[in-house]
Amino acid sequence: MLRWGVLGTAGIARSQVVPAIQGSSNGRVTAVASRDPGRSTEFAAAFGIDNVFASYEALLASPDVDAVYIPLPNAMHAEWAIRAADAGKAVLCEKPMALSAAEARRVADYFAAGNVPLMEGFMYRFHPQNVHALKLVRDGAVGDIREVRAHLSVDIMANAAGNVRFDKALGGGSLLDMGCYAVSAARRILGEPFAAMASFDLDPATGIDLAATAILEFPDGRVALISSSFKGSGQGFYQIIGTKGVIDVPRAFIPGLGSRVAEGLVIASDPDGRRSETIFEPANHYRLMAEAFTDAVLSGEPVPYPPEDAVNNMRALDAIAASALSGRRVEI
Ligand SMILES: NC(=O)c1ccc[n+]([C@@H]2O[C@H](COP(=O)([O-])OP(=O)(O)OC[C@H]3O[C@@H](n4cnc5c(N)ncnc54)[C@H](OP(=O)(O)O)[C@@H]3O)[C@@H](O)[C@H]2O)c1
Repeated sequence: MLRWGVLGTAGIARSQVVPAIQGSSNGRVTAVASRDPGRSTEFAAAFGIDNVFASYEALLASPDVDAVYIPLPNAMHAEWAIRAADAGKAVLCEKPMALSAAEARRVADYFAAGNVPLMEGFMYRFHPQNVHALKLVRDGAVGDIREVRAHLSVDIMANAAGNVRFDKALGGGSLLDMGCYAVSAARRILGEPFAAMASFDLDPATGIDLAATAILEFPDGRVALISSSFKGSGQGFYQIIGTKGVIDVPRAFIPGLGSRVAEGLVIASDPDGRRSETIFEPANHYRLMAEAFTDAVLSGEPVPYPPEDAVNNMRALDAIAASALSGRRVEI
């Protein structure tokens, strides 16, 4: 069993990731730290966690913690990942791993130099529906892929007060919060983009982007259309357009949460619109991610997605932001 520590008492740790680890086959959360002792004590009691620490530093210093899950605000990911590496802990870091590609590069190099496992927490990649969609692509089910459209939006405008997503200094904004999924999904299918054209719906009050839209260019004329928004309720989906048909994954990133976990669904359509649907049993992709990461750490194998992938995702996100803010096409 891998012994996990959690930095902070984040909403996502509480609602998804800590319950997923506690229900996993190969790990347990045995430690939590918070800036507020009352919060960590309550959190520990809620999830059967034995050890409570008064600071993130103290948790990292514990010899009884093997791996750390970092669900801190985006702007704190790089710093705390590096501190965890210094303490010799394997790290599962929430997305995005850093605020820029340069910062992500620094983190990835640091972990590589110390030979410490590190993975960015894009859980959707472990859901059987997304594994299946990628297999369909690789098997040539819809021919040569020409375009990917990927979107994630959740209307959180009514919950802006005190939300880290609306705080620019903490790495807020829809692109880093939600657009990172769409970029990741497009890169998973098309590889690495070489240019971006983008626009932001900037919030004058906070300076964050409330929505982001981008075209990413890939070799041989392939493209991705990317969008994210704090105003829409599009949930999350991607569509893969090939020379012989289309693959749709309509609940790609949030296939239901908590007690509302839904089936996975992949729809393949031929050029005449004839559809074939593959339905997947509800699956907890957070648990699948934690188990796959843990298997790698315990066996000494490479983690399923290397830090290099997080660096490349940030390179595309950097270019999208630079294009949106300058109004120009930006090469990556
Ligand atoms: N994979 C997913 O499905 C998913 C979903 C949602 C969010 N996320 C990611 O998870 C991370 C956390 O998101 P969240 O919505 O769960 O955030 P949140 O509820 O606001 O939690 C952030 C935690 O960070 C700690 N923290 C330390 N310094 C802070 C500061 N200056 N301001 C606010 N909090 C601070 C707090 O813990 P203490 O006060 O207890 O120390 C707080 O509970 C983000 O990186 C986000 O992108 C991922």
